[in-house]
Amino acid sequence: MKTEIVICLGSSCFSRGSKKTVQFIKDYIKENQLEDKVYFHGNHCSGNCANGPIVKINDKEYENVSPDNIVFLLDSILKKD
Ligand code: FES
Repeated sequence: MKTEIVICLGSSCFSRGSKKTVQFIKDYIKENQLEDKVYFHGNHCSGNCANGPIVKINDKEYENVSPDNIVFLLDSILKKD
């Protein structure tokens, strides 16, 4: 089963820098050849703007996401095997 990564593309998360994280995740997937293992896409505002940017990985929500902290999440979730 693919790991689903969803990033909020709503305006609040955008103004908090989600765009940088979108690019970071794209590059990460490419660099680690995870295209077949990861389904990465954007979504609308989930209403948790105050804690954004918001990223969901397999339905678990992560708050205040930035390239600096998402790298640890991606490593721990995607580099298990
Ligand atoms: S804009 Fe991202 S949760 Fe609202």
